[in-house]
Amino acid sequence: MKSRGSEFVVVANRLPVDRVTGGDGVRSWRRSPGGLVSAIAPVMRQRQGTWIGWSGAPDEELEPFEEDGMRLHPVRQSAEELELYYEGFSNATLWPLYHDVIAPPVYDRAMWDAYVRVNQRFADAAAEVAAEGAIVWVQDYQLQLVPAMLRRLRPDLRIGFFLHIPFPPTELFMQLPWRRRILEGLLGADLVGFQLPGAAANFVRLCRQLLDARTVKQDIVLDDRTVRARAFPISVDVGELSDLVARPDVRRRAQEIRDDLGGGTVLLGVDRLDYTKGITQRLQAFGELFSDGSLKPGEAVFAQIATPSRERVEQYQLLRDQIEQQVGRINGEYAELGSPVIHYLHTSYDREELAALYLAADVMVVTPLRDGMNLVAKEYVACREDLHGALMLSEFAGAAPELRRGAFLVNPYDIDGLKETMLAAIRAEPADQARRLRAMRKRVLEHDVERWACDFLEALERPTNQAVDLTA
Ligand code: ADP
Ligand code: F6P
Repeated sequence: MKSRGSEFVVVANRLPVDRVTGGDGVRSWRRSPGGLVSAIAPVMRQRQGTWIGWSGAPDEELEPFEEDGMRLHPVRQSAEELELYYEGFSNATLWPLYHDVIAPPVYDRAMWDAYVRVNQRFADAAAEVAAEGAIVWVQDYQLQLVPAMLRRLRPDLRIGFFLHIPFPPTELFMQLPWRRRILEGLLGADLVGFQLPGAAANFVRLCRQLLDARTVKQDIVLDDRTVRARAFPISVDVGELSDLVARPDVRRRAQEIRDDLGGGTVLLGVDRLDYTKGITQRLQAFGELFSDGSLKPGEAVFAQIATPSRERVEQYQLLRDQIEQQVGRINGEYAELGSPVIHYLHTSYDREELAALYLAADVMVVTPLRDGMNLVAKEYVACREDLHGALMLSEFAGAAPELRRGAFLVNPYDIDGLKETMLAAIRAEPADQARRLRAMRKRVLEHDVERWACDFLEALERPTNQAVDLTA
């Protein structure tokens, strides 16, 4: 056992920085995509821990290094493992299964074997890096076996797990050929965190049904200890965003973006290019508002920013082609020279540009078909200190219960509903916008990412092996 090491360790599939090789062969680091990194990076900077993760490139053996105030400990993945573990079991099996089977999940034994192998490597790395009695916080669906693997190696550790995406209901989870192994993997943790109470309830129910575990409310009582399942809705770094939107250069840039977009109402979508995000449905609805005469070209413009994501997975390639054809078709019909009705950008931006985009948007369109939380919705709310703007939000985003009092809620599958809600958001009176934003800002400002991390870590540190009061 280690006598020295980190007292606080985060284990995630990705490091917060991603290795990129430019066309000229020069290699550099850039921020990794996705909500997990947006949420965990500020928490890590505060707590001086070690972050274990993959560098974003195949077959790289890297020594631990420091970046942006964080100690990073890279874990290698071979090209074959990336194909089977990351693109395969994580993103072609678990991702669609956990998101309501929007795309058909692939069940493949070689992918599962790679998932087990890579999870073991992450567990070995955590066992090596963690100090005696340290807190180890394992993140997300790519690493669900790590808690049990790590407990076998280091029973002295306090192990937490947080799932950033939805956890499916029994009927869907039962499809998974390795369903018991996943539950047993998660039960290696002392605390298993989910975005919403319904997901925690799904997990507890499955432990009862599949493992015959004794459960008391949201606790799973094992022979030697109790595992707690709880909801901790994740959030955003409100301080960072409010500093950004106070900057004169960011405000100038927001005005520039508005000018470039031509003066109509600005609708904005910001998503990883992912089939869970409902991008095609929202663009269809926007296009139909022109075809049925509800909007005239020039009256409104849609900026859709799509971060490249999982580009080697077939479903993502198909989606990209579909969106690009759709944008071409709608612009072909309704654009005027120099004035497209949809601006589509397949790229990643820095935080300054994103904040400027949020400030430039009259209507933020967040319409995923299913989403664990959706940080973009909360980022928009956090940025709109001016109380101007409207948030259109899917009922199926994890953020919906928290923001329902202020958002224009919509069923993202219902094209007519999307059209009506888009028009209502476009036409909302300033006083209504302010009232709605005030309600949403109250929630987001009081429950920022620091509070989320504190809530989780405090719950993790509370002893669990006390007797559970069965009468409670
Ligand atoms: P997911 O984790 O599924 O990608 P979230 O909405 O929870 O979805 O988180 C996305 C995160 O990625 C947010 O913090 C958002 O600001 C960031 N992001 C999204 N699109 C871009 C982009 N084009 N460039 C840079 N960051 C982006
Ligand atoms: O929870 C959302 C999430 O899947 C993270 O786990 C992940 O890091 C992020 O989105 C981006 O996806 P990827 O790491 O596959 O690029």
